[in-house]
Amino acid sequence: MTLTIKRIFKSPPLDEEILVHGWVRTLRKGGSVYFMELNDGSCFENLQIVIDVNNFSISLNQVNLGVAVAVRGKLVKSPAPKQPIELQAHSIQILGEHNFEEYPIQKKATSLEFLREIAHLRPRTNTIGAAMRIRSTVSYIIHKFFQERDFYYIHTPIITASDCEGAGEMFRVTTLEPGDTNIQTDFFCRNAYLTVSGQLEAEALALALGRVYTFGPTFRAENSNTTRHLAEFWMIEPEIAFFNLSDNIDLAEELLKYCCSAVLELHEADLHWLEKFNEFNLLKNLADFIDKPVNRITYTEAVEILRKNKDQFEFEPVWGDDLKTEHEKFLVDNYFKGAVVVTNYPKKIKAFYMYQNDDETVACLDFLLPRVGETIGGSQREHRYDKLLSRMTELGMDLENYKWYLDLRRFGSVPHSGFGLGLERFLLFLTGLKNVRDVIPFPRYPGNVDF
Ligand code: 4AD
Ligand code: MG
Repeated sequence: MTLTIKRIFKSPPLDEEILVHGWVRTLRKGGSVYFMELNDGSCFENLQIVIDVNNFSISLNQVNLGVAVAVRGKLVKSPAPKQPIELQAHSIQILGEHNFEEYPIQKKATSLEFLREIAHLRPRTNTIGAAMRIRSTVSYIIHKFFQERDFYYIHTPIITASDCEGAGEMFRVTTLEPGDTNIQTDFFCRNAYLTVSGQLEAEALALALGRVYTFGPTFRAENSNTTRHLAEFWMIEPEIAFFNLSDNIDLAEELLKYCCSAVLELHEADLHWLEKFNEFNLLKNLADFIDKPVNRITYTEAVEILRKNKDQFEFEPVWGDDLKTEHEKFLVDNYFKGAVVVTNYPKKIKAFYMYQNDDETVACLDFLLPRVGETIGGSQREHRYDKLLSRMTELGMDLENYKWYLDLRRFGSVPHSGFGLGLERFLLFLTGLKNVRDVIPFPRYPGNVDF
């Protein structure tokens, strides 16, 4: 079996004959030898291969940027100060075709916009490669965090009949032919959609297993062509029986900090590259976030702060309106200069399931991160049957459709809470990248499902 370059750097089998596979990054001549930088995607670092041209039958003209090769050789300590080890090649084999002239990824820097047009090749670049590696790690760490705290990983349905957020932004799932409107002949004999959140079903499991979480794909047909919205994104939704709003916020803060620490520890080289690429203090910002307690304010306090600075905004902040992106940005980037949790928004702008306070607000939270804005949305849930029923009736919801959800308030009901963490939004914070389309391999957004 061959070793990954990551493994080789971690525990180098010095003076042994080894086999590595990868894609060539550069080849340059130095005296009577050639130096090849080989990357296999397992880590940011390239392995340096030293090739003594006198020993080779292979034409090095074919060894271009992007070609896949297998190299056999002896791993030795490197005399060069910049790298600890190098491989003295004994044989190099080109593994497959590579049309270098037409290869769209060249040595010089390319824009992220251009790379989105070649989504199938862009993971081979330093930037997208780093984002994909960090995405994998943070996904694993999220599972680890919950598993260590007695949470069960549950799978909620992707096809559903309920609109959890009540915003009507659902993709319809149907087997009807265009023009056929007879719902009785549709697959489920009723309207079905792709889920916008697994929360409602997670509540049923939380009220049985205590602490649960989902981690799955989520779909929203919002026609938002922004740097923060995807039509298909991944959401992590913990749901916890016997938790109130403040327990919920503590958990969210602990989770985000835990993930940041792990990424800092495990992805130093990727982060250094991303810091250079993004031209700001990414590592320090992450370390600061871990060190400082997160600010917590109510929506009403937020609006007061914003109104005192209202000449800075396009939209005047008014109590009762949702916070706009510019307002969120002001709070995190200018006013607090750090993460902020905003709680207790007006009931009328939030979803039906949130616990109703006595003052027209609901016990909810929005977790705002610097540069990114809202990354988590959550709440304590309305567990009182009468209160929930009257809110649903007020909103004109189809009660028959949510009978099962109301049942959870009729049998063994308890206060419970949960939240949804948008993986891609969080990855913007972790990588310093600015567009969610660059932190998911194949982004879906209005007009784009090409790859
Ligand atoms: O605030 P949201 O809509 O909350 C819910 O869906 C709740 N049911 C979650 C819960 O309490 N279990 O979405 C949660 C998070 C947002 O804060 C954001 O990070 C992300 O999901 N998100 C999106 N990410 C990318 N593209 C979109 N279109 C997103 N919509 C929401
Ligand atoms: Mg939200």
